[in-house]
Amino acid sequence: MVKTNDCRGPARRRSISGMFNPQDPAFVQDPYPTYRALRERAPVHFSEALNGWMFTRHADVQRVMNHPKIMRPPAGDMLLGRVPADVRTSLQAFERRLATSMPFSNPPRHTRLRSVVAQAFNRDVAEGLRLRIQRRVQHLLDRLQDARRGELLEDYGYQIPTWVIMELCGLPQEDLPMIKELVTRITPIIGQCLPTDDPAGAATTAAAATEEFTVYLEGRIAEVRRSPREDLLSRLVEAPLTADEITLTVLILIIAGTETTTHYITNAIHTLLRHPRQLRMLRDDPWLIERAAVELLRFEGPVPFLTPEIVSESVVIGGVELQPGELVYAVIGAANRDPQQFFAPEELDLTRPIGGVLSFGGGIHFCIGRHLAQMEAQIAISAIVRRFPKLRHDDAEPVPVWRADPILRGLTALPVITC
Ligand code: HEM
Repeated sequence: MVKTNDCRGPARRRSISGMFNPQDPAFVQDPYPTYRALRERAPVHFSEALNGWMFTRHADVQRVMNHPKIMRPPAGDMLLGRVPADVRTSLQAFERRLATSMPFSNPPRHTRLRSVVAQAFNRDVAEGLRLRIQRRVQHLLDRLQDARRGELLEDYGYQIPTWVIMELCGLPQEDLPMIKELVTRITPIIGQCLPTDDPAGAATTAAAATEEFTVYLEGRIAEVRRSPREDLLSRLVEAPLTADEITLTVLILIIAGTETTTHYITNAIHTLLRHPRQLRMLRDDPWLIERAAVELLRFEGPVPFLTPEIVSESVVIGGVELQPGELVYAVIGAANRDPQQFFAPEELDLTRPIGGVLSFGGGIHFCIGRHLAQMEAQIAISAIVRRFPKLRHDDAEPVPVWRADPILRGLTALPVITC
C-alpha cells in the first residue's frame, strides 16, 4: 500500500521510495507513467535523488513558480555542490561568474539583467526576423529534398535556432562551430543537481570552456565598442552591466535558446510522425499551426523541470509545509499532463484550445525567448509538413531514442525519408 506524503512536521518526508529515479533508462525513455504516478499518489514528493521536493500537479507548479518566498539558490551551490571542496576552491572565479547568470539571479540583479535583455526579445523583434527565418528554412528543406533523406535533429532542428541566435547577438555565423564546441563542454554542469559520475571533471571542463568563451567575447565586445550596431551585444555593452554579466548573459541566451528550440522542433516532428491522423489534419489545415505548436510543446516539450528553487521562509504548498533552505523542483513535464487542467491529457490533440501550458515556465523567470521559439517552431513545422507529404521515419536507420538526460528531453537523432 502506497502512502502519500500529504502531511506536515517530521513525518513530511515519509515519501515513496523508488518512485522517481532520474537515471532509470525506462524513465528517460518514457517519463510519463512516473509523472502520472507521482501526480496521483505523491503530488508533493521528497526525492532523495534530487534532495528536494518535486511538485507535479498543475496548480502546485503554478504556485511554486509565482511564490515570492521561493527563489533561486546560489548558482555555485547548485552547479558545483557535488564538486570536492579543494577543486571548488580552485574554481572561485568560475563560481563568481555563474552567480551572474539570469536563471540563478534574484531581484534586484535579476530585474536589472532581465530588463536589458527583454527589449531584445519582444514580439516585434521576433516578427522582424520572420522572413529571414522562412528563407533559411526553405534553404534547409531544399537540401533535404535533394538528398531525399536526412537526419532532422542536426540538419534541420539545430540549424534554425543556432542561426537565429547568432544573428540576434550579432555574432558571425562562421564562429558557430567553435561556439558549439565550447557549449558542449559547458552544458554538462547544468545537470549537476543530479548525481553524476565526475562532478569535478565536469566543473573543471566547463570552467575552462567558459574562460575561452569570455576571451572570444571580449574580442567581439571590442569591435562593438569601436562601431556599435543594432544587435543584442551592442545593447548589452551600452547597458549598466559588468563584464561577467555580459558574458554570462550571451552564454545563457545561446544555451537556453538553442538546445531547447532544437528539441522543440525535432520532438514535434517525431510526435507528428507517430500520430498520422493529427499530421494529416495539420497538412489539410495550415491555420492550425498556432494551436498545434503549443499542443506539441505541451505533449513532448524539451524542458520537463524548472531550475531548482530554494524556500526562503516557511510556506505551505500542496498540503506540505516547506522549511527555509529546502529545495523545490517544479516538474512542468508532469503538470502539462494533469487531467485537472487538460481534458484527456495523454492524447495529442492539435485542436486543443491554447492555454494553461507551462512549458515556458512562469513567474519572474518566465522564458524570455518564448515568442521567438514559438515563431521558429511554427515556421519549421508547417514548412516541412507542407513540403514533404510523404515524410516518414527512416526504417533503415535505428529507431529514434531519447537522450539519457532527465532535464532536457530530446532525441539523439531523427532519421527520415522525405519523398
Ligand atoms: C522551445 C523553446 C524553449 C523552451 C521550452 C524554453 C523554456 C524555458 C523555461 C521553462 C524557462 C524558465 C526557466 C526557469 O524558471 O528555470 C526559460 C527561461 C529562459 N529562457 Fe527559454 N525556452 C525556450 C527557448 C528560448 C529561447 C529561444 C531563448 C532565447 C533566445 C530563451 C531564453 C531564456 C532565458 C534567458 C531564460 C531565463 C529567464 C530568467 O531567468 O528570467 N529560451 N525558458
